[in-house]
Amino acid sequence: MKIAVCPGSFDPLTLGHLSVIRRAAGLFDQVIVLILANPEKTSFFSTETRLSFIERCTAELPNVSVDAASGLLADYIRKVGGCAIVKGLRAFSDFEYEFQMALANKKMNPVAETVFLATDCDQCYLSSTLVREIASLGGEIKGLVPQEILEDIKHTFRSGHYDNQ
Ligand code: PNS
Repeated sequence: MKIAVCPGSFDPLTLGHLSVIRRAAGLFDQVIVLILANPEKTSFFSTETRLSFIERCTAELPNVSVDAASGLLADYIRKVGGCAIVKGLRAFSDFEYEFQMALANKKMNPVAETVFLATDCDQCYLSSTLVREIASLGGEIKGLVPQEILEDIKHTFRSGHYDNQ
């Protein structure tokens, strides 16, 4: 069984993430979408909320499950017997950082290959940071995040009750 892990902070899940997850699900027997902490970022949505967002948006994909962990990605992959890390590449500017992580992960867990999927053209500008900025300033995020979680994200920003604070 070929198990792949799609790691990220998913804060929140965007249509770009979902496209990568869907395509990974077509390539591997099982895909685990893994919420991890990015040491460079403080998360906006709680882990529970991010987990529930991803579960709702991937419900129709039978070989996709969602998990959250702390610690090293390389250790998690070893624990679940994964063979690949799947990440989306939006632009050349992503490459240096992603390449460095791929090499570090390979060093820590030589069994796991990092597989990069090119982001769809119409989503190559999209990021969770951009979604949060637009939503926090009252802009329209329809078409940037999955329809299933659109109203919840809008509501969070409208209400000002941020669930991770
Ligand atoms: O969506 P992001 O923020 O680009 O995801 C980055 C993430 C969470 C995948 C990365 O920071 C990560 O793998 N964190 C877990 C800790 C770890 O393994 N660090 C070493 C990476 S070489």
